[in-house]
Amino acid sequence: MKRRLTILGSTGSIGLQALEVVRSYPGRFEVVGLSAKGNTSILREQVREFEPPYIALESGDIRTFEDLETKKLMGYGAAASLAEVPSDIVLNGIVGFAGLAATVAALKAGNTVALANKESLVVGGEWVMRLAKSTPIIPVDSEHSAIFQCLAGRIEGEVRELLLTASGGPFFGYTKEELRRIGPEDALKHPTWRMGPKITIDSATLMNKGLEAIEAHHLFDVPFDGIRIVVHRQSIVHGGVIFKDRAAILHAALPDMRIAIAHAILYPERIDVEDEPVGFKEATWTFEEPQQEVFRCLPLAAQAGKAGGAYPVALNAANEIAVEAFLDRRIQFLHIPDIVEEVLDVVPEFGAMDSMEVIKAVDRWARQVAEKAVLRGTQ
Ligand SMILES: NC(=O)c1ccc[n+]([C@@H]2O[C@H](COP(=O)([O-])OP(=O)(O)OC[C@H]3O[C@@H](n4cnc5c(N)ncnc54)[C@H](OP(=O)(O)O)[C@@H]3O)[C@@H](O)[C@H]2O)c1
Repeated sequence: MKRRLTILGSTGSIGLQALEVVRSYPGRFEVVGLSAKGNTSILREQVREFEPPYIALESGDIRTFEDLETKKLMGYGAAASLAEVPSDIVLNGIVGFAGLAATVAALKAGNTVALANKESLVVGGEWVMRLAKSTPIIPVDSEHSAIFQCLAGRIEGEVRELLLTASGGPFFGYTKEELRRIGPEDALKHPTWRMGPKITIDSATLMNKGLEAIEAHHLFDVPFDGIRIVVHRQSIVHGGVIFKDRAAILHAALPDMRIAIAHAILYPERIDVEDEPVGFKEATWTFEEPQQEVFRCLPLAAQAGKAGGAYPVALNAANEIAVEAFLDRRIQFLHIPDIVEEVLDVVPEFGAMDSMEVIKAVDRWARQVAEKAVLRGTQ
């Protein structure tokens, strides 16, 4: 039977790769809806090819789609409205805080979520996981997909630690002095993955791994001390589980997001791919400690994750502002953790993060504080 699939953020890196999977398996999927922020030209091409009954566009000219027969959801919150349309699986490939509303909307509507938007769990972890008690979330992030697969069939109480691997990004081994000189063009060159700009910068600062630790904490209900991060330059082992008896199960696959995406959107089936598996030819696998004193975003994320409440929301917002400012050449690479730290240092009491209103209030507050820090840094 065809699987009804909705893809949020279909014009981005995750969305485009998800559509490659759909294209490779004709007859397996029925595309229910596609969404973008404002990239009307790519979305138009996708609508012509996949003929979804729904599209959602946050901004941009909806007249681009006038001649196409599809129901058009338009404006702020359009992706969240699309997420509510009945579907077997909603793949959330939106980047940043904007993805939270869609994750929540899909879960509330009873649509299983294939989650790439890690920010949903960073900012709304406890709330989102409460909703996920009745509607499943299948992880798409390769590390979480790896852990999810290693945990399959295990029983509670067997796990000692989760293992999250990091590629180390393009600047692994650099000193702070060397990091002072790098620009967005250097940071956008990731050694092993091709991804959107925000996550590529997050990978270079190691904030991505920090966000992923918070994501893993919520998804798998493990304390932060039970999550071990190691740098694995080859990006073949994506994650694993270390058990009570000191045995570990690791997950290995080529660094190709289509593998994790296909796993999530077809779960529990596995597709047959006639291609070279894993990377046994490049059989040297190394595992090293991350340089926490150089890549300060990693300990900052751990600190915010452990503090909980408003802290992870503030961390995420400050990071989004800082990354944008770095990409616009308004701040230097090493200012990214400075700005995040400045915001974390002044987080006031906001109460429990159990509604969109509260989470949005913290997000707005943190963005303002971060913007001021960016301005001060550029004066
Ligand atoms: N790329 C990867 O390999 C990878 C791997 C693991 C996890 N992830 C996670 O997956 C998510 C997406 O990453 P990506 O690399 O695919 O990002 P991306 O290439 O920048 O794509 C982002 C997508 O989200 C849409 N979008 C942006 N802002 C939006 C908003 N305010 N409302 C609605 N839609 C919006 C964009 O639409 P427009 O094109 O119209 O701007 C685009 O379709 C991130 O959370 C990332 O951490 C990505």
